[in-house]
Amino acid sequence: MKKTLFIFAVLALASCKKEDTKVAEPLYPTNTEVVAQTPVELGEEIFKGKGNCVACHQVDKKAIGPSIQEIAKIYKDKGADMVTFLKGEGVPIVDPSQYEVMKANFVITKAMSDEELKGLEAYVYSTIQ
Ligand code: HEC
Repeated sequence: MKKTLFIFAVLALASCKKEDTKVAEPLYPTNTEVVAQTPVELGEEIFKGKGNCVACHQVDKKAIGPSIQEIAKIYKDKGADMVTFLKGEGVPIVDPSQYEVMKANFVITKAMSDEELKGLEAYVYSTIQ
């Protein structure tokens, strides 16, 4: 009987050790997809997802807003800063007459991190590369 108890105690200890290593696991991310995401991929995801930019912007033709290829070309030519624009701190250079329509989206883009805004910028530029 004592022997059995001893074995149980050892087993219980051993399983405790296992628990400990399990707790430490999340420190090492296993989801490589998230870790390896490039700024362009992040930008595309936001553009089509929570940013909903795709509702007004298409890649190669004008919709409610200018195509993002056109935006990319003009921003590249003028060396303009898209992140500043999306923070609501810039001036429109693509189609100022329609600025009011775009302006409504600053509520969404102002809440984004710099990393997310740079991702959007990288994605827009990626369409002319
Ligand atoms: C409701 C429609 C609509 C949505 C949604 C929208 N846009 Fe726009 N966007 C426009 C219109 C219209 C213009 C043209 C006016 C202008 O140039 O400011 C524009 C212009 C732009 C410009 C060029 C600004 C400039 O300098 O003239 C950028 C960059 C841009 N949009 C990025 C985005 C991004 C990124 C999103 C998603 C977070 C987005 N837009 C969502 C309508 C929209």
